[in-house]
Amino acid sequence: MDEECTDVNMEIERDTPQAVSVVILKGGVGKSTTSMNLARQLAEHGRTLFADLDPNGHATNGLGFREAYQSDTNLGNVILEGNATPSDIIQSTDHQFDLLPSSNTLEDVEKDLAGAMQGSARVKSKIVDPLLGDEYDYVVFDCPAYPGMLNNNALVASGNVMIPIEPGSSAIGGYKRTMERLIEPAREYIDVDVLAVIPNKLSDRIDQQTEDRELLENLNTASYEVNEGQPLQEAVPSFARITADEFEQIDAGEMQTPKPGIRHRSALSRSLQEDQPLQDYDPDSDQIPYYQELAKIVANGGQVK
Ligand SMILES: Nc1ncnc2c1ncn2[C@@H]1O[C@H](COP(=O)(O)OP(=O)(O)OP(=O)(O)O)[C@@H](O)[C@H]1O
Ligand SMILES: [Mg+2]
Repeated sequence: MDEECTDVNMEIERDTPQAVSVVILKGGVGKSTTSMNLARQLAEHGRTLFADLDPNGHATNGLGFREAYQSDTNLGNVILEGNATPSDIIQSTDHQFDLLPSSNTLEDVEKDLAGAMQGSARVKSKIVDPLLGDEYDYVVFDCPAYPGMLNNNALVASGNVMIPIEPGSSAIGGYKRTMERLIEPAREYIDVDVLAVIPNKLSDRIDQQTEDRELLENLNTASYEVNEGQPLQEAVPSFARITADEFEQIDAGEMQTPKPGIRHRSALSRSLQEDQPLQDYDPDSDQIPYYQELAKIVANGGQVK
């Protein structure tokens, strides 16, 4: 494998507390997988809270917290009415991070947030502001696949996002929809920094015209801005960055074809069925360095240019 693709030696230069939301307005792309494994690697750097804001509760249930998902005391009691505190619902896990579980009531919570005073800032004011920098160094949100009050709360509470994206004809469409329907509207009111756009479930060779190649070429050449004055390609983590020059070298047979991350691995889907992040399920997995790099990007508050 190309050396640049496994470069995770980027040092952590900042240790400011950070929150980040893993979002894309498209189902099944890898929000839960990415957010949970990112939280697991951030936990190696500092105290980490993994917050599952998706009503489907895939991450909560995937970590084995089926009872918490059905508990009478839930996020609504903390951020809407009631006098529950975050510690009433936060669970400790065997995976170094704590879990703020999703709940089978979150769809109702979302409806109630729409009519609540400062309904988009409740997670910030009731959870992140009191805990980040005090109880936790990092907070990672797993978000729903549709726009709404829970996604808005995650954006307001974190101000940082990472966007997973998978190969296929609708891939870039999902990214653009997320920018147009979620991030840009939020930017009318708050700063939102896109820390990374992360290819996921790569499985094809890229020395031929595959969907993987199309995605990587799109990401690495797109001229549209992801952050003010920053083209999309600069938000691609180094393990997936392939320049136009490098593609030319690949096509000319002058360069060994890299296998960029994050790749499709059965260990990643199986680990969720076995209630574990990848680090604990298969510590030797070749994909772990990529989650480590994502953790460093968060800890640094962005990519080192
Ligand atoms: N890199 C990967 N390799 C193999 N399987 C993966 C990978 N990433 C995600 N998956 C699998 O793809 C499915 C969807 O992933 P995940 O649940 O993380 O997506 P999501 O965006 O959170 O979905 P939803 O919108 O339904 O919440 C899951 O079964 C997961 O195990
Ligand atoms: Mg999910």
